[in-house]
Order: sequence, then C-alpha cells, then structure tokens
Amino acid sequence: MRYLPVTNHNRQQINAFISQRWFSTQMIIRGESVEMTAVEGIAAMDGDEIAGLLTYRISDGICEITSLDSLREGLGIGTTLVEQVIAIARAENCEKVSVTTTNDNIHAIGFYQKRGFDLVKLHHDSINHARLLKPEIPLIGQNGIPIKHELEFELLLSDQ
Ligand SMILES: CC(C)(COP(=O)(O)OP(=O)(O)OC[C@H]1O[C@@H](n2cnc3c(N)ncnc32)[C@H](O)[C@@H]1OP(=O)(O)O)[C@@H](O)C(=O)NCCC(=O)NCCS
Repeated sequence: MRYLPVTNHNRQQINAFISQRWFSTQMIIRGESVEMTAVEGIAAMDGDEIAGLLTYRISDGICEITSLDSLREGLGIGTTLVEQVIAIARAENCEKVSVTTTNDNIHAIGFYQKRGFDLVKLHHDSINHARLLKPEIPLIGQNGIPIKHELEFELLLSDQ
C-alpha cells in the first residue's frame, strides 16, 4: 500500500471516490457545507486503485478530519491514515485534531476513542437539519440506527 497526498494529479479520481462514498462532494459538517473538492487529503493506493482516503482541513490551529474511508477494513489502513494526519497536524503546529461522526456509526465511535480521541460534544438533531441542505443523507444508517445527531471528538496534541 502506498500513502500519497491528494494533489492536482489525482484530484479527479479522489472526487469520484468521495461522491461514491458520500453521495456527493458536498459534506455537511455540524451545519456547515464543506466542498470536498477543495480539502486536503491522504490516499491509500493499491496500485492505481484507492483503497482508503482521509480528507482534512487546517484552520486556526485545528486539524479537522472531514472524511475517512477504508475499502479494505481490518488491515490497518484507517489507523495508518489517522496516524499520518496526526503527524501532519503536529508538523503544522496544530493544537488538536478533531473529527465528527454520526450517532449510528458505532464502529467509528469506537475506532476514534481507541486511538486517543475524546468525545467533546453532541450536536443534537444536526443531521435532521443537514438533510435540508443534503437530502441524499439516508434516514437509517449503520446497524439500522436512525441518523440524527453528530458526535464531535478531539485529540489534543499537547497530551501526546
Ligand atoms: C472506520 C474505518 C475508516 C476504519 O478503517 P479500517 O481500515 O478498517 O481501520 P483499521 O484496519 O486500522 O482498524 C479497524 C478496527 O476495526 C476492526 N474492524 C475491521 N473491520 C471491521 C468490521 N467489518 N466490523 C467491525 N470491526 C472491524 C479492526 O479489527 C480494528 O479494530 P480495533 O479498533 O480494535 O483496532 C472503516 O471502518 C470505514 O471506512 N468505515 C466507513 C466510513 C466511516 O465510518 N468513516 C468514519 C467516519 S468519518
């Protein structure tokens, strides 16, 4: 597996991957519409194929993970991508890495906490509002759980 930054060279392939995984390149994060064709990222490449992708943006000392996907689960791709973004955040002198996930995503909620991220906020009903901007967001998510809220996690880099 090769881990490569998102650049103009692979941007189209990355955009297609994001559209396929998240229904469009527009992501609603805590009520904000984020244009995913403009965020930075790290791609896990298996030959010419994307096996995993983490996107992020850095602003005001916060490195925010805007998406994380692995197509080959359980092989360490997700962990490696998170480790790499933490290294980037550190190199950019960020104070923390943050990430938001939905209430149905029990696997991601466990995944981030096991990797040192702490639950800092519940955005109650935020997905019900997000659906007004992005109707493609399904009503029912993983494990048959209604998708309604967002949970915000953060990893303080000074603690590490
Ligand atoms: C969350 C996600 C990125 C993890 O990626 P990954 O490549 O499987 O990550 P890793 O292989 O490094 O580790 C995955 C962990 O889940 C476990 N795991 C792997 N596949 C699993 C599965 N199908 N069901 C349950 N657990 C699984 C692994 O054993 C490992 O366990 P650990 O946390 O106890 O160490 C991936 O599951 C995914 O893409 N999910 C869908 C999108 C998503 O939810 N993104 C996060 C919200 S932004």
